[in-house]
Amino acid sequence: LSAALAVAGEALSAPVQPAGSREVTILFGSQTGNSQRLSGKLASLLTDSGFQVTLSAMNKFKPNGLKKVENLLIIASTHGEGEPPDNAISFHEFLYSKRAPQLDELYFSVLSLGDTSYEFFCQTGKDFDVRLEELGGKRLTPRMDCDLDYDEPAAEWFNQVAAALSERLNGSTAAPQTAAVSAAGIATATESEYSRTNPFHAEVLANINLNGRGSDRETRHLELSLDGSSLQYEPGDCLGLFPENHPRLVDELIQALGWSADEKVPFNKKGEEGSLREALLKHYEITVLTKPLLEQAAKLSANSGLQELAAPGKEKELKDYINGRDLLDLAQDFAPWNWTPAAFVGILRKLPARLYSIASSFQANPDEVHLTIRAVRYEANGRERYGVCSIHTAERLEPGDTVPIYIQNNPNFKLPTSAETPIIMIGPGTGVAPFRAFMEEREESGAEGKSWLFYGDRHFVTDFLYQTDWQRMLKDGVLTKLDVAFSRDSEEKVYVQHRILEQAAELYEWLQAGAHVYVCGDEKHMAHDVHSALITVIEQEGGISREKAEAYLADMQQQQRYQRDVY
Ligand code: 2AM
Repeated sequence: LSAALAVAGEALSAPVQPAGSREVTILFGSQTGNSQRLSGKLASLLTDSGFQVTLSAMNKFKPNGLKKVENLLIIASTHGEGEPPDNAISFHEFLYSKRAPQLDELYFSVLSLGDTSYEFFCQTGKDFDVRLEELGGKRLTPRMDCDLDYDEPAAEWFNQVAAALSERLNGSTAAPQTAAVSAAGIATATESEYSRTNPFHAEVLANINLNGRGSDRETRHLELSLDGSSLQYEPGDCLGLFPENHPRLVDELIQALGWSADEKVPFNKKGEEGSLREALLKHYEITVLTKPLLEQAAKLSANSGLQELAAPGKEKELKDYINGRDLLDLAQDFAPWNWTPAAFVGILRKLPARLYSIASSFQANPDEVHLTIRAVRYEANGRERYGVCSIHTAERLEPGDTVPIYIQNNPNFKLPTSAETPIIMIGPGTGVAPFRAFMEEREESGAEGKSWLFYGDRHFVTDFLYQTDWQRMLKDGVLTKLDVAFSRDSEEKVYVQHRILEQAAELYEWLQAGAHVYVCGDEKHMAHDVHSALITVIEQEGGISREKAEAYLADMQQQQRYQRDVY
């Protein structure tokens, strides 16, 4: 077809303009690296098909350049309560500000990553999609919203986008020139044969409770062997771990359903199958209820209560019901069921891997990876509940056992490129994990840069995670400063942010000297409070307005001098 066009162009002795441009801009907003990795895949796919691709993190893209973009592809994940990831904040703000340009010439499409168990599912992707249309852009293909298991829908979106771009370029509905990509093609990692879709079975080397006797916490230090996997990682990266559901919950669920544990069911859409018990132990999520799941379950229940709950207009009631409940509650509360074992597992989500910030340096511990996992146990709706992965680790993993794992690179939580750059690390509780990796790495490489750790937990005597490591590093001068806040040793609660405020003058000196600041741990409370404490430090010590102090910190974030790994 393009040859025919060229001939026609010669005959008319005027260049024929293709309908669309070969230039494509891909922007990603990524917290833990999924959107970033997908963007890289899409970029190489389109480049191989002859497009000129510009690939950029949203915060590295000059928004004034937007007017010149003709084809814009956005891949964005959603964080917390519907918020954009850190590296998407400034671009998101820009688009929703008065400075946003009219974009009548723009063609765009959005791929959003999210989790249907959150109320604001894929909100950031939706925001971009809605706003770009408001500004005059036209959709190349409809937005694609992905749940946790994103490989398939992402591959479908890649193919749709590639076809639409080719079609525009050729000015016709010609078949796409781009080779189609598969879900497996999306998931493969380059460094090792092992990836999320083909996890490595790592042997447990050690599994130790870090909390002392009498603590109300249990935190596991888990050491795994990577021997034979050729997997490697850098400080700041995460490990994905595929857990098993609690056998007691599985047995109770099967009993409530009234089936036999040996009933044969599919494990996945690939045609693998086995017993219902194994399916519920290893393959399907049974501890989380989502809105789509309840809507599908309503079709399989003869119980009018469930049909009412899943009907439009009952969002508030549905949200209240699913909060803190699991499949066992659902099975018990809404009998009788018309489902067969196969229909039942057909509505379940795949059991997702859990991501943990790696607590070790690969350089310092070749072929090993260490994790810091806090056991989650709580009571809700009249029953004891367990964190799937943390309780699997705490109660049922012993040295010699194996667990399926993969490495998830986190490009947004990395040591400074220079070993001389000072670092400030704020990581209470299990948030301290990546800082053990950072410090092991700096110790191993003999880095000269200063380092300062803020750590906190409940009690000094029982909850000081890796206390002896920190004390040795302090003594050896690897760690320059350590400030701790034990919240329940005194009448008044003291948290890491109080220590930060107490040390305002010196902390500001470090910032002025170019220090990088890292925050890891609880997002909702801790990271939020630490963020405002940092602004206070800058405001007070810099003698500037709060607004200017906020801009100072935003600028640090832009320069990747302020990085967060929060959950
Ligand atoms: P608490 O449980 O006594 O409230 C690690 O979990 C530590 O973080 C605990 O000492 C916990 O204290 C503390 N923590 C709880 N809320 C916090 C907040 N908003 N900011 C900082 N630390 C917090």
